[in-house]
Amino acid sequence: MDFLREVFKGSNRFILRLALIAALGGLLFGYDTGVISGALLYIEPDLHPSGFEAQAFVGALLVGAVIGAAMSGWSADALSRRRTMIIAGAIYVVGALASAASQSPWELIWARFVLGFAVGAASFVAPMYISELAPKRIRGGVTSFNQLMIVSGIFASYIVNWAFGGAAGNWRWMLGLAAIPGAALAIGMYFQPFSPRWLASKGREEEAREVLGMVRDEDEVEEELSEIDEEAQIDSTWRDLFAPGVRAMVVIGLVMAIAQQLIGVNTVIYYAPTILKLTGLSTTSAITQALSVGITNVIFTVVAILILDKVGRRPLLIVGTIGCVIALVVLGIFFASSTLKQDFSGLALVCLIVYIAAFAVGLGPVFWLMISEIFPLHVRSAAMSLSTVANWATNFLVSTFFLTLTGAISVEGTFWLYAGFGVAAVIFFVLKLPETKNRSLEEISEEVTDEAVGTT
Ligand code: BGC
Repeated sequence: MDFLREVFKGSNRFILRLALIAALGGLLFGYDTGVISGALLYIEPDLHPSGFEAQAFVGALLVGAVIGAAMSGWSADALSRRRTMIIAGAIYVVGALASAASQSPWELIWARFVLGFAVGAASFVAPMYISELAPKRIRGGVTSFNQLMIVSGIFASYIVNWAFGGAAGNWRWMLGLAAIPGAALAIGMYFQPFSPRWLASKGREEEAREVLGMVRDEDEVEEELSEIDEEAQIDSTWRDLFAPGVRAMVVIGLVMAIAQQLIGVNTVIYYAPTILKLTGLSTTSAITQALSVGITNVIFTVVAILILDKVGRRPLLIVGTIGCVIALVVLGIFFASSTLKQDFSGLALVCLIVYIAAFAVGLGPVFWLMISEIFPLHVRSAAMSLSTVANWATNFLVSTFFLTLTGAISVEGTFWLYAGFGVAAVIFFVLKLPETKNRSLEEISEEVTDEAVGTT
């Protein structure tokens, strides 16, 4: 495989290490969002939350993530990508320990809210940091390590929930364990270099050259540095987000962000056992079968990593989203037909697996990757932050109102609604999405800013 051959070559091995440490941010994102559904079963008899409080254990993290994503748009520029990740690591530790030590529902809600700041920050600063260090030939794959860590974190949370099921004080362990990767992230990032693009944007050219020297072959450093330098000269304000070429990219970022959630991925992931139970399975078999959804997500994210730099982002995103739409339509038909439910009860699981595999090669990794690629350096933090805020806010709305929605328009109606959003997204991607494969971040942004000043 081209990607595997490249990634173990020379200076790329160092990139691999940098990417894996930064992607611990993704591991925590996945773990902290995933762990609560299982932990809830044990928190309930212990802390006796009201219905609203139990929902807030989930929602508080998502709202915190919106705020964390908004604030880190500023800090990734002002303090650096690297320091923002160190702070996120420290917040992960504090949030995990505070969650584990909570004595009342509201203490836990506050702890989860604070944890959300780190989740929101790391969710986009990790891919941003990795893509600013990675060489263009393998940028898609290594940046998507972050997505691989997210899905591995979700999967690890299932395993932890299962392993600690019978232990005393189990939910405290489930929530507290996240302090370990949190500390590893903070300490690991402390020893990592700054992003060369951030250094150049602060006029620290010598240091930028030094970092590029660590992650590129000698003959590539000067050429890349002069490209970066040219871009780093541009000063910016928030208003630049609305300059013509940039504005088009901001719209693309927002559409991808919102589509990634409106297609219903988190309801499929977290309600998979509930969906399977509706087909007549017992709770234990539903939970066991739902595990296969988690494993499929991990396996197909690996597939995406291996082929993103060869096949390109556009085809994967379009084909992946079409796959999700087909799975959702069939799932809806399944729920609408009593014959299918009776004679083909395994069809629901097949649909869920097809859906998650298609998401894992498309909207899952490609959204986070492309928002780290399509924005010029001078607006990158602000624009990525905006897309990430939209992503978490939509995640909050979809997760909160899933059950209300199924009550109002039925289970099949809900899946068809998600499918409708997916169709709209596919049309938009076909018409508007650029290809960023094997182009340097500066080549991509030159096109965007040229358009902004009307020269193309
Ligand atoms: C999404 C998450 C989702 C995860 C699962 C991420 O890219 O942003 O909302 O839970 O993928 O695969």
